Amino acid sequence: MDKFRIQGGVPLAGEIAISGAKNSALPALAACLLTADAVVLDRIPPVRDIHTMEKLLEHAGARVTVTGERVTVAAGAIENAEAPYDLVKTMRASSLVLGPLVARCGRARVSVPGGCAIGARPINLHVAGLEKLGAVIRQEHGYIEAEAPHGLEGAEVAFDRITVTGTEDLLMAAVLARGETVIYNAAREPEVVDLADLLVKMGANIEGAGTSVIRIRGVAKLHGAEHTIIADRIETGTFLIAGAITQGSLLLTGCEAEHLRAFIAKLDGAGAEISEPAPGTLRVEGGKKLRSVDVTTEEHPGFATDLQAQFMALMTQAEGIAIITETIFENRFMHALELARMGANIRLEGSRAMVAGAMPLSGAQVIASDLRASASLVLAGLAAHGETLIDRVYHIDRGYDRIEAKLAQVGARITRVH
Ligand code: EPZ
Repeated sequence: MDKFRIQGGVPLAGEIAISGAKNSALPALAACLLTADAVVLDRIPPVRDIHTMEKLLEHAGARVTVTGERVTVAAGAIENAEAPYDLVKTMRASSLVLGPLVARCGRARVSVPGGCAIGARPINLHVAGLEKLGAVIRQEHGYIEAEAPHGLEGAEVAFDRITVTGTEDLLMAAVLARGETVIYNAAREPEVVDLADLLVKMGANIEGAGTSVIRIRGVAKLHGAEHTIIADRIETGTFLIAGAITQGSLLLTGCEAEHLRAFIAKLDGAGAEISEPAPGTLRVEGGKKLRSVDVTTEEHPGFATDLQAQFMALMTQAEGIAIITETIFENRFMHALELARMGANIRLEGSRAMVAGAMPLSGAQVIASDLRASASLVLAGLAAHGETLIDRVYHIDRGYDRIEAKLAQVGARITRVH
């Protein structure tokens, strides 16, 4: 199993190019199942979850051609309207093929994702939404089997709570349903908007993406399209913290500040200087003393749960006590225990973490427990004295595009150990 070895204490300086968003690329790839024509997607990050989604599409019968960051998917005929256990168990977002498959084929069989390190993460809301559209769904032998032999019918769906992939799954089902679908309490994440933009290019009729009410008028057929994926806002946020926590100076290019307003405000409150020297760029200047700020994770446009672990690493280096409240997932503090092994002073109380800083961090052997937790350990390792060895970095490979190469290029002493 690969590990990262980091020698901390080096202020990072230089420029990093941001990759396409993993969480946008995943639904975009799933959306390719909705048409028999070829769909060309640019800026697809070459990370492990994307490879898993590509395998899922191939399993369904699609031809997937990867040329650098350009991926062409041609799903001429669907041979298997199925997402098998072996693929779903490595990536929960596999449930994103449920909506498109049932819309295109009138049936789908998708393995039920199990729990994961950050929480139970059920997909009951995806199922309830599809049922509203007329799919008959049963769960048997660890699989969700959905059937709509006469096609889906538009309906009003009010989600009980906001779900990102649930909104995306239903959006992809509704574009081919007869009549109008209205999704209430829809997720407003930029990735939902990006998916809607792609679907509209493919011929779908969608209004309101990016707000909490999305209206979809179903069409009989979608066609091929070309689309470029948006910047990864979580990778952007992670590198902004890398600049701040190492007292460095980084320029990020190809990013979108508009997608990170709540996060940037908190980083600014903590004393990091953030500016936008040109459209599509962000600069972070560390160097000033960091101050504690409280954060509460929320759905977009609030502070993203996917940046909570990284922000906690930063708060270990800030003066005062920061209260970090996680409201989206019930078990997303695994990194706190590993950060404590590096000298951080963190007390956990249910969904709240109290981080008392600034405590000097010292390099240690730590274990990555999930994707964003791994990123927080990398950040702590960059700030720590001495050597940090992070085990199980396959978690980070699921969602960060060559993170060690990007960090090394701006001066970090980080290597991958096989
Ligand atoms: C998406 O997961 C992201 N994944 C996650 O990114 C992200 O953390 C999460 O949204 C929240 O922003 C992708 O986009 C592929 P949810 P998703 O459905 O859609 C509960 C990362 O690190 N819920 O919005 O699975 C759920 O348990 C990851 O890149 C139900 O109860 O998250 C959670 O508490 C990890 N029933 C809350 O809703 C359901 O049917 C929000 O989850 C669905 C969700």
